[in-house]
Amino acid sequence: MESKRSVIVVGLGYVGCVSAACFAEIGHNVLGVDRDLKKVEAVRKAQSPFFEAGLDQLIQKNVAEGRLNAGILDAEALDAADVVMLCVGTPSQANGNIDLSHLRRVCDEISGLLRPRKKRLIVTVRSTVFPGTCESLLETVFSRGEDVEIVSNPEFLREGTAVRDFMEPSLLVVGGSTDDAARFVADLYAGLPGEVSIVSLRTAEMIKYTCNAFHAVKIGFANEIGSLAASLGVNPEQVMATMCRDTRLNISPAYLKPGFAFGGSCLPKDLRALTFRASRLDLKLPLLASVLSSNDEHLRRSIHQVLELPGNQIGIYGLAFKEDTDDLRESPVITIIEHLIGKGRAIRIFDPHIQLDEIYGSNLSFVVSALPHIGRLLTRSLDQLISASDALVIAQKPTAEALAQMKASGLKIIDLTRLVLKADCAPGTYT
Ligand SMILES: NC(=O)c1ccc[n+]([C@@H]2O[C@H](COP(=O)([O-])OP(=O)(O)OC[C@H]3O[C@@H](n4cnc5c(N)ncnc54)[C@H](O)[C@@H]3O)[C@@H](O)[C@H]2O)c1
Repeated sequence: MESKRSVIVVGLGYVGCVSAACFAEIGHNVLGVDRDLKKVEAVRKAQSPFFEAGLDQLIQKNVAEGRLNAGILDAEALDAADVVMLCVGTPSQANGNIDLSHLRRVCDEISGLLRPRKKRLIVTVRSTVFPGTCESLLETVFSRGEDVEIVSNPEFLREGTAVRDFMEPSLLVVGGSTDDAARFVADLYAGLPGEVSIVSLRTAEMIKYTCNAFHAVKIGFANEIGSLAASLGVNPEQVMATMCRDTRLNISPAYLKPGFAFGGSCLPKDLRALTFRASRLDLKLPLLASVLSSNDEHLRRSIHQVLELPGNQIGIYGLAFKEDTDDLRESPVITIIEHLIGKGRAIRIFDPHIQLDEIYGSNLSFVVSALPHIGRLLTRSLDQLISASDALVIAQKPTAEALAQMKASGLKIIDLTRLVLKADCAPGTYT
């Protein structure tokens, strides 16, 4: 590892105690503090305050070798520290919001103990907090100290395998009020396998929630599919294990990019069939049943966005439900076009794979029943679309050349295939 740092860990619960012992194990000097003196006493006696596989041995070894200690937070300890890691609880309130009172108390304590410093202090939030919390902490509690920087370094360990999860991290994420502060905290992990992702403060905070939401959705999904499979006389474990063997489309980044709503001839139809059959079996599958309404809601957001475009003539790039196909069945773009026409907008459409004289069968009947005047709306080239439009909507991933051509037109463009940052995001509430 690059260098040994002085780290204070506040909160010796599952996250804090494991972090304290593991940071000591990889060479740092660690002081663990907790308002629960039983936990402090346990660590001082070289014992784990709770059961976690391998933690007792790690604490014994590092206390004996002098890298791990426990005690109270005071000005002297803070003077010596490079990094303070906040690992206090952020429990749920009755309304679902998180209770930040422990975090606030600790920040106030640190702020009250800070003396003019010879070196900067990096206050690192490891507790799970909502995006914006670190920024608002910085703005309030630590605003007077120019030598205090804030970092978010969420913890991903799982109880039961926490020591191994720390030592062999599946993900290391650090966001900082400055890049330098983030890099400093990232370097604490030097020597552990894996690369640290350095991101913004809010991104780091959001990634933690994203991971936990994804885990919860995965478990809910496996349980719903498993229950349906079992009810249909199909081995649930074999279904899921086989599904997971596809690491190109299933267990992979595929379909995990925020963008436009889904459509097409398969996903909506098959979700409807699954939930219909489940209802016949008196099996409630609320997660699967909610996916189409989630998609409708996403489409509604796109419609809202598109209706705010200036001008009367709206050019739509892409009519099929995705790029590189001419399949129009259940294409969400058609719903958007219906709304635009309903609001009196004039529409022109260009899709590189669709010319009316070339589509037929269910594809043709679907589009003609949704848009009877489709023939008059389609243009034969992107040039034509651009010259007939006051603004453009990108509804399927364009080629690089097509994107460049649309950007060069100078027209206002809404790209539904990418979600863009909203301006004017206030910092999260730090209450
Ligand atoms: N437990 C997990 O598996 C896990 C995993 C990842 C992230 N997290 C997140 O990490 C945070 C901590 O979780 P945990 O399970 O370790 O909580 P915990 O309740 O086990 O530990 C929190 C500790 O903080 C101490 N504390 C509270 N206020 C204090 C103060 N003012 N000064 C000193 N110590 C104080 C408490 O006494 C307690 O020992 C939470 O935000 C949680 O969501 C938990």
